[in-house]
Amino acid sequence: MNQKKLLNRLFAYTAAILCYLMPAIGYTAGGSNVPLLNAQVNLDNQAAIQHGAKYFVNYCMGCHAAEYIRYQLLENTGLTSQQIKDNLIFDNGKVSDLMKTALPQQDAVTWFSGPVPDLTLTARIRGGADWIYTYLKGFYTDPGRPLGANNTLYPNVGMPNVLWSLEGIKSPVYRYQVKHQGVLEREFTDEATAVAYVEQQGSEYKLEKVVDHLVVTQPGSLSEAEFDQVARDISAFLDYIAEPMKQERQQLGWWVLLFLSVFSTLAYFMKKAWWEDIH
Ligand code: HEC
Repeated sequence: MNQKKLLNRLFAYTAAILCYLMPAIGYTAGGSNVPLLNAQVNLDNQAAIQHGAKYFVNYCMGCHAAEYIRYQLLENTGLTSQQIKDNLIFDNGKVSDLMKTALPQQDAVTWFSGPVPDLTLTARIRGGADWIYTYLKGFYTDPGRPLGANNTLYPNVGMPNVLWSLEGIKSPVYRYQVKHQGVLEREFTDEATAVAYVEQQGSEYKLEKVVDHLVVTQPGSLSEAEFDQVARDISAFLDYIAEPMKQERQQLGWWVLLFLSVFSTLAYFMKKAWWEDIH
């Protein structure tokens, strides 16, 4: 192979690898700086998905829809059509109905200064159950916000803290970052010291307040471990509906790999046998 061909081939391989990695790069750049918590979601656990669905219809569907799926989908998690009707549908709806919210979009726009997003594909778009879990655990009280709540993963979020009665109320403990031309210079835990430092350094130094961690200031009806389980199950439900075929696809993937390896071995020996006489 001459040098030009080799270079072309190298270029094509690099481009292919970059295309393959592209979505991963996109997620990293688009995300917030908050590290995601590990939700430890197991989609083989059907009870967890059912439990998450129960919380979803009770605590989320007042505002959110998941209108690209039907209630019926939950039959795949082991529920009967009667169980779905009795436990998850509150009006006279049918199991074949789409999971629509009763909230008129016009009201949503008035109350939340924007439409409430449909959550069918959120787990997939945001990058999985860990994102949802971190988001649900990231709410804290912030009197400066119109609905009194803020979120560590989603700063200035427009959603109220709807699970506060279960989780309790959490307040932020801040740390104060001094930046010089956008570069972090020093960090303080005490605001007054940080302000004094910035004043001493001059106007090129800027102070930024970031949430260090959250502390429960008023307990809710659940313990921390119990609430984590609720957040985990809601995350499992949203992860499941975002891609109901994921489990099947992953299992199929192993069969495909097995087939390919058997087929490649056979092909290799056939090639060897065929070329034996020619050489
Ligand atoms: C009172 C109405 C209301 C309820 C109830 C509610 N939400 Fe929300 N939610 C919102 C609004 C409004 C937004 C848009 C926030 C924004 O973009 O700033 C939102 C945004 C979200 C997002 C981010 C979507 C994205 O990709 O930007 C997620 C995830 C979410 N909600 C999950 C939930 C879950 C889970 C529940 C139930 C436990 C729930 N919400 C209950 C109003 C609500």
